[in-house]
Amino acid sequence: MLIRLCQHSFHIYDLLVFSAAITLIVYILLPHRFALRYDYIDQQHFEEALLAATTPNVSAQLAPDCSYKEVIAESRFVYDARHLEKIQRDEEIRLGGEYQPEDCRARFSTAIIVPYRDRPEQLATFLTYMHNYLRLQLIHYRIFVVEQSDRKPFNRAMLFNIGAKVAASYDYPCLILHDVDLMPLNSGQIYACSKLPRHMSSALDSWRFHLPYRTLFGGVVAMSTAQYNMVNGMSNLYHGWGGEDDDLYERLKVIGVEICRFDPAYSEYTMLKHKHEIPNENRMALLRAASLRMHSDGLNSLVYKEVERRMRSLFTHIRVET
Ligand SMILES: *[C@@H]1O[C@H](CO)[C@@H](O)[C@H](O)[C@H]1NC(C)=O
Repeated sequence: MLIRLCQHSFHIYDLLVFSAAITLIVYILLPHRFALRYDYIDQQHFEEALLAATTPNVSAQLAPDCSYKEVIAESRFVYDARHLEKIQRDEEIRLGGEYQPEDCRARFSTAIIVPYRDRPEQLATFLTYMHNYLRLQLIHYRIFVVEQSDRKPFNRAMLFNIGAKVAASYDYPCLILHDVDLMPLNSGQIYACSKLPRHMSSALDSWRFHLPYRTLFGGVVAMSTAQYNMVNGMSNLYHGWGGEDDDLYERLKVIGVEICRFDPAYSEYTMLKHKHEIPNENRMALLRAASLRMHSDGLNSLVYKEVERRMRSLFTHIRVET
């Protein structure tokens, strides 16, 4: 009897060790088995999910509409030396970092807004790669770099609000809020707004291409100017790292607008290496009151000083004091 019991518990122990080992092996070899599952739009439905809208001067052009079928269907990995090392055909890019295709009329005009301070190498990499990348997509776009020129803690969300305001003054119907250290890997992630706000960087290499939580709405997001205005933009109160993107998600929740994502195979990004940012100690308290503050903290309470606006060859450079 005793012997049997011992044998029995030995079996269970064995089994536990064995299954733990198997789990570990599966985890290492097949990371996707453990990935958080989330809804996404599949490739066949990208085009109908997009919001066709351009600036008035593009709408007024007489040319056949560009077609996006091939751009999407022929999505490929383009994070390679050819796209990273130098800008191809740079004469196509207008002063201020604007481009539109020549042979057809773009159906999307996008303002890409990049908050920035003190990362000149990353900015150079970003601009080179993105201009090569974006011109594969037959869209009309312009890159706005909003630089915080004071020494206060970095206020990413406020820089987005400033960029959104400037982009609206140039009549852009679509905003892409973009970190300078994230690069899209596949050419089919069209840089245009969808009807619902879209989280674009949902498969990040530094997170083994997984989404850490479903409500994540940071890194690279696309949002129509109308929707951005509807939530009063982002909060101006997040100084230092973290929280402001969750705050934006809360705002969308309040007005009942859901977010969407494209197929993960189209949403792969790589993150350039950098030092860890100083976290904002206050972010949790701010986030708890996000919905209460949204109507009084945002675009309608934005106060800043524009120090300089320069049309550079690859971007529109806006330097501000926050
Ligand atoms: C459209 O007009 C704006 C403002 O006048 C100008 O900055 C921009 O370069 C024009 N873009 C195109 C594509 O014609």
